[in-house]
This record gives sequence, structure tokens and C-alpha cells, in this order.
Amino acid sequence: MPLVQRVVHIVGARPNFMKAAPVIEALRSVPDIEQILIHTGQHYDSNMADVFFRDLGLPTPDRSLDVRGGSHAQQTGAVMMRLEPIIDELLPALVVVVGDVNSTLAGALVAAKACVPVAHVEAGLRSFDWTMPEEVNRVVTDRLSTLLFTPSPDADRNLRLEGVPADRIHRVGNVMIDSLLRVRDRAPWDEMRRRLGLADRFYTVLTLHRPANVDDPARLRELLVRLQEVAARMPVVFPVHPRTAQRLKEPEFATWSSSLTVVEPLPYLEFLALLDHAACVLTDSGGIQEETTVLDVPCFTLRDNTERPVTVEQGTNTLVGADGRLLPEAFADLRAGGGKRGHVPDLWDGRAASRIAEVLERFLASKLAVK
Ligand code: UD1
Repeated sequence: MPLVQRVVHIVGARPNFMKAAPVIEALRSVPDIEQILIHTGQHYDSNMADVFFRDLGLPTPDRSLDVRGGSHAQQTGAVMMRLEPIIDELLPALVVVVGDVNSTLAGALVAAKACVPVAHVEAGLRSFDWTMPEEVNRVVTDRLSTLLFTPSPDADRNLRLEGVPADRIHRVGNVMIDSLLRVRDRAPWDEMRRRLGLADRFYTVLTLHRPANVDDPARLRELLVRLQEVAARMPVVFPVHPRTAQRLKEPEFATWSSSLTVVEPLPYLEFLALLDHAACVLTDSGGIQEETTVLDVPCFTLRDNTERPVTVEQGTNTLVGADGRLLPEAFADLRAGGGKRGHVPDLWDGRAASRIAEVLERFLASKLAVK
């Protein structure tokens, strides 16, 4: 009778879903494991969570923790308190966490304290900016992890410099790109074009949600002024994140955002269609810097640093400052020459999750062997 080992996956926020989906799919072919999916509920609106489960073919979560919003401590603490008894009950052989959100950190902490090995997908990324909550989450999660799956050589280097033994680091490529390549053909461009009245390669997509950009009214005001200059030249489609929507409710922002095509957060496939046909993308997101590199669309990142330097060195990404000060110059370049082109980094080939599954299969087999 084979011994079935449990693998628990923890997801919580929008950028987790496209990273977990291919890993869960790839592990289906590994014999004698039972996969359990736990959704912390950090993101809970239907268009921030449910539609991603649908678009990505993620299974219905086996457990939902329903933690919702709150301060960092409230959110992280709530995930930990609700997760701990479930880990004690399930006794998994491994917990898999992805990305850098509060749910990632909370999941890793609970598992490590229960002496359950942690696998971190998207390990080793560093912005070296400790004012970003994600940087804290990344560093601590990596420190707690037994298996570190990295997307690029810079991530390996960062981990080695922090003293992580080489045999724990597995460069597998970028799982988020697995999801993108899997569904790209299904992205509904015709529908989006009609619905929003867009012309191919003659609009820009804007996303903005980092606390550093949207929580400070002066910074947000400054950014909106610069974005209006872009909007005077081509349509700017702005799917608004709930955090930003709360800020834009202030009366002073009503007129400024009116020059943008403001829409609700979009499902994965619809958003992908918009990215794929844009002239350029303006964003403060992490993952979008990678997606635009693969789609070969110029990306202007509204930040002073990035934990994804490979997208600047090899891809289509340009840092234009958290206040957008370099945006006019970057936009002039785009109009003059079509913008920055690059190439797709090594191993961002749609097969990262199967590489992860191979490593996990070996790891789980070795755990059984020592029992
Ligand atoms: C979180 C992640 C960030 C990631 C982003 C992607 C952390 C520290 N931050 O930031 O790394 O880039 O997700 O979206 O984990 N809200 C809703 N409905 C939802 C989700 C959130 O109304 O479905 C509200 C929350 O109640 C809160 C605000 O939006 O007031 C921010 O949500 P939160 O999960 O705390 O952080 P994000 O800004 O989404």
C-alpha cells in the first residue's frame, strides 16, 4: 500500500493565483500525493479572487480562512491563527507558498513552527527596499524555506549572499509565465477592443496600487498630473485596485481621474488581452513587469527600484521613478522609436512548474526513504 503524502498550497491574494495554478497542475502527475488548497481570503472580492480561479482552472479551495483586509499585523496574524489548527490536523509533508504577500509570510511562519518543510516559489527576489512590505515578506519567507525555487540568476545570487546553501536553491524559471503562455490564445482581445473602444497598439494600460504611490495624497496627485499628460496623447485604461479606489474617492481626485478610462479590476484573461495589444504599460506592480517582458510590450514602472532587475537588463522594462519623473522622456522615446525591446529571460518558457514538480517529487521520496 503506497503511503500518500499531503502537500498543502497556500494562496491569498491576486498575484498568488497565477503562480500556484501551474504548480498544482504539474503535481497532479506525481504519484501518491494528495494536494490541499487553502485560500486565506486576503483578497476576497469576486473580481480579485473568484474570476482568477475560473480563468486559471484552479480547483475550489479545500479550506477558506476568510481573513479579508486589515493592518499588516491583523492580516498576517489572522492567517496564522486560522491556519495553525489546520496544519496540525492535516500533518502535511510539505507546504508550498508563492510570491511575497502577507499570506505567503503567514503560511511560511505557521509551517516552519510546526516543523513542516516550506517550499517557496519565486524565492530570492530583492528590491533592497525595506520600506516595501513585500521585501520583508520575501526575506523572512526565504529564511524559513527548505526549498527555494528561483526565477532568475540574480535571485540565486541574492540567496547565496544571504548564506542559503546552494543545494536548497533550484532555478526553475518563472511560473507566472507558465500561466500566461497557457492561456494567451484565449485572451478576448476583440471583446475588449469593442467594449473599451480601443485601437491595437494605440493605448496604454495603467495599474497603481503600491501604498508608496497611492496612500500619500501628494504623491498620488503628482502622479495623476503626469498621467494626464500621457492621456492627452493616447487613451489610458486604468483598472482600479480596491486600495486605490478608496483613495480616489476623495473629491480632489474626481476631476483628475476623469481623463482616464477607469474600469473595475479585470479578470486575468481580459487583463492579459489588454497587456498584449497595448502600446505600453504603466505600472507599479511586480508581476506586470515580467508579463510585459514576455509579451514584448514596453513597460514603464512607476517605482525607484525593482526586485525583478532581469526585466530591465534583458526585457522591456524601464524604471521611471515612483513619482513618474522620467515618464515624459520615456514616453517621448516610445513615440519616436516604438519603445524598448528585449528578449525573454532563460527558463521563462512555460515549463517552470514541471521543473518544480520534479524537484518536489525527489524531495518527497527522500523524506519517505528516511522514515
Ligand atoms: C496585496 C499585496 C501586494 C500585491 C497586491 C496585489 C501584501 C503586503 N500586499 O496588496 O504585494 O501586489 O496585493 O493586488 O500582501 N481589498 C478589497 N477587496 C479585495 C482585496 C482587497 O476591498 O478583494 C481592500 C482591502 O480591504 C484593503 C485594500 O484593498 O483595504 C488593500 O488590500 P491588501 O490585501 O491589504 O493589500 P493590497 O494593496 O491588495
